[in-house]
Amino acid sequence: MKIVVDRDTCQGHGRCAVYAPEVYELDDEGYCAITELLVPATQEDAALSGADACPENAIEVID
Ligand code: F3S
Repeated sequence: MKIVVDRDTCQGHGRCAVYAPEVYELDDEGYCAITELLVPATQEDAALSGADACPENAIEVID
């Protein structure tokens, strides 16, 4: 599973990192610091929850 974060859409809510801190690293200002990441199988559930929690829909999940 891959996640793609639209950093122009991200508004720094940080909810993604609450659910999956190992996946959604935040920068110093609280914005998602990653753009693309291959998610390890063990972290897929957390990554999905983090994507669902984003109020800006900035995170795309690709199977
Ligand atoms: Fe940004 Fe959404 Fe996370 S706004 S910091 S991608 S919850």
